Amino acid sequence: MAQQDSFLLYGAYGYTGRLVVEQAVGLGLKPTLAGRSRARVEAVAGEFGLPFTDFDLADARALDVELSKVPLVLNCAGPFCHTFTPFADACIRSGTHYLDLSGEIDVFRRAAARHCDFINADIMVMPGVGFDIVASDYLACYVKTRLPSANRLLLAVGRVEAVSRGTATTVLYQLGQPGLVRKNGKLAEVSTAWKQRRFDFGNGPELSITAPLADVFSAYYTTGIGDIECYVALPCAVPAWLLKITHRILRPQWLLGVLRRQLQKQHRAGPDPAERAAGRSSIFAEASSDEGQRVQVIMHGPEPYTTTAVVAAAAVRGVLQGKVKPGFQTPSPTFGAALISVIDDFEVIDLE
Ligand SMILES: NC(=O)c1ccc[n+]([C@@H]2O[C@H](COP(=O)([O-])OP(=O)(O)OC[C@H]3O[C@@H](n4cnc5c(N)ncnc54)[C@H](OP(=O)(O)O)[C@@H]3O)[C@@H](O)[C@H]2O)c1
Repeated sequence: MAQQDSFLLYGAYGYTGRLVVEQAVGLGLKPTLAGRSRARVEAVAGEFGLPFTDFDLADARALDVELSKVPLVLNCAGPFCHTFTPFADACIRSGTHYLDLSGEIDVFRRAAARHCDFINADIMVMPGVGFDIVASDYLACYVKTRLPSANRLLLAVGRVEAVSRGTATTVLYQLGQPGLVRKNGKLAEVSTAWKQRRFDFGNGPELSITAPLADVFSAYYTTGIGDIECYVALPCAVPAWLLKITHRILRPQWLLGVLRRQLQKQHRAGPDPAERAAGRSSIFAEASSDEGQRVQVIMHGPEPYTTTAVVAAAAVRGVLQGKVKPGFQTPSPTFGAALISVIDDFEVIDLE
């Protein structure tokens, strides 16, 4: 019989997974740590005095055995385009709730497509319980509440100063995809960096480009708004023409493979504790209506990896305490402000 504080945390020895382990333990939770390398998962488990197990996601039998012991799995092993489906299949078989840290739009599409399977299995499947999309999903909900007649939503994520190796790898895979926005409730393909705009996240206007963030998909489920555009602030000056052809340049699988191997060799694991302590995150949100009404808000919070660890652990605690809605779900409709309210130093400012 699973205890109320136990769950499976897969990807525990990754940069972000380890931060989540620390937060979960701080909340009094007792995860069983998991990953595909026995030595690496054992090392983290030893540090925290936690149980552990090792298995590969290609091993469906091992997945079934391990998932049948717990009510919930938190998947921290990304890119999630490779890890979501084996977990989704196994969670359906074992009746286990599923959370992950994905910000990949394709994972959200795949999850929503299986909504009925998840309902039939009586499980909740919620990708994106990290900074991305918990904070942006909360803001989307917030501006829709302030302007219920809104039919257009814009979200812009401020520059992230230092990214982990895993995030860089995930972004690389996504750069190989075309851009996406939502129009009249449907996803519409656009070029990469389709639109460019400057947003002031607090340090003067920063050039930002449209990007197929997961919110293009998920914010429709959270708010019902049918026209959605997402932007990201550029980390450095890149010519617009180059951005527009990135996905074509990166289309060949062999090139993606070469770049991924370079990243694995050269990119550091992630921001160090001092960078995390000093870093900040910002998201701008705007909702508008055909009647010419508009609301704008900006959110400032801690550095994204710190935020991710805090909100992911809070989401786990929420599910273990019974905050569960069967099917594919987005964070805000399920948790309300509960995940955001656990973040220290988080503020939402009404601009208009
Ligand atoms: N939503 C958010 O705001 C947010 C925040 C932080 C991170 N993330 C995402 O979380 C993911 C992990 O980031 P990270 O910084 O922790 O990266 P990382 O340090 O590279 O860790 C990735 C972990 O996933 C495991 N993994 C990857 N592919 C796997 C597979 N096919 N089967 C089994 N295990 C696999 C790795 O194990 P091996 O070493 O054995 O390959 C490792 O434990 C990335 O996709 C990142 O974008 C999202």
